[in-house]
Amino acid sequence: MPQHKLLMCPGPTIVPDRVLQAGAEPMVYHRSEEFSQVLKEVLDHLRVLFGTHDVLVMASSGRGAVEAALANSLTPGGRVLVVVNGFFGEMMAGIARDLGFDVVRTQEDWTRPADPQAVADVLAGDPSIEAVGMVHSETSTSVLNDLASMGQAVRGQGRLLVVDAVSSLGGAPIDMDRNLVDVVGSASQKGLFSPPGIGVVGVGAKGWERINLSTNRRHYFDLRKMKEAADRPTPQTPSTTPVSLVKSLHAALQMINEETVAGAYRRHERMAQATRLGVKALGLSLYPAGDFRRSPTVTTVALPEGRDPSHMLKWVEKNYGIVLGNGLGKIGKTTFRVGHMGVVQPENVVQALGALGDYMVQNGWTTAPADAGAKVAQEYFDRP
Ligand SMILES: Cc1ncc(COP(=O)(O)O)c(C=O)c1O
Repeated sequence: MPQHKLLMCPGPTIVPDRVLQAGAEPMVYHRSEEFSQVLKEVLDHLRVLFGTHDVLVMASSGRGAVEAALANSLTPGGRVLVVVNGFFGEMMAGIARDLGFDVVRTQEDWTRPADPQAVADVLAGDPSIEAVGMVHSETSTSVLNDLASMGQAVRGQGRLLVVDAVSSLGGAPIDMDRNLVDVVGSASQKGLFSPPGIGVVGVGAKGWERINLSTNRRHYFDLRKMKEAADRPTPQTPSTTPVSLVKSLHAALQMINEETVAGAYRRHERMAQATRLGVKALGLSLYPAGDFRRSPTVTTVALPEGRDPSHMLKWVEKNYGIVLGNGLGKIGKTTFRVGHMGVVQPENVVQALGALGDYMVQNGWTTAPADAGAKVAQEYFDRP
């Protein structure tokens, strides 16, 4: 058996043995009652995480789920306003463009969270905009865009809010109905600590109003067909379900239930806080600078001037078996990322900070002791 690496990159995340084993069970027919019961329980668990009733699973990565969310929510060639305050905001704008929508970009500043008032102002000035696209946890910068205030702003202007929650589902509350978020896409391999390959989409009541009106072309990603199959007394998916992946996801969702959803969110906040304190103790700073809500699932760290992240990332993996994440897009060479989503525990954060500190001391990146970050994180975890 290959050795487990400690995945502290922002996805895919550590998949516990129980989840792996559930996916390794003998194959079952995807239309059988036995499998339908598993799918039913998966949908029930996901409802709680999305905070809305209608959830759909499909064979895709996160990008596919976001594509499905957009493709179903707009009219052909329809105009969509996309908040592009990070790499994945850019990705969303690109998906919308490739689907033939008319993309209006806003808030291209990667150092700031989305501003609901600014979005409301653009919407007020352009009634032809049908929907707003926004990333919840911007995995490139770790900025957490606020769902509640954006939901109010967008609903106040009578438009649809489509959200990419790929790196927040399972690690941070989404509360779609309460936050007035209409359509959300996410995936199995991050906060849900399952193998990659399942896309999940949540749709609220307003979302369905638009989806049912849309004449946009779609086939595999037709959310209406998925809903029809999911709503049967024995739920199904329209085409062959990725049975093994769904079984893995089922085990992961059971684990979240055992920890409790609130407990999982609390643990993510604690992992994030310890990571932030730890990297600062090593003399590094968070990217971007500023005082705003950061994602509980990932921490983006600014590199010391002139340092190359790739050597550090390779060294930490080779010497400690710990995989950290590279920076993305225009901050690819000036940042790196620590993922702390899924089943990450205090000892994992402490190990990662210890490895980072060791590298930094050996390579003259810091004057702090090598264990400074690990120590601060451990002290944080030890506090009652
Ligand atoms: C916020 C966000 N959106 C979209 C994606 C793309 O997801 P996938 O690689 O599963 O298609 C990612 C992946 O890191 C992400 O973090």
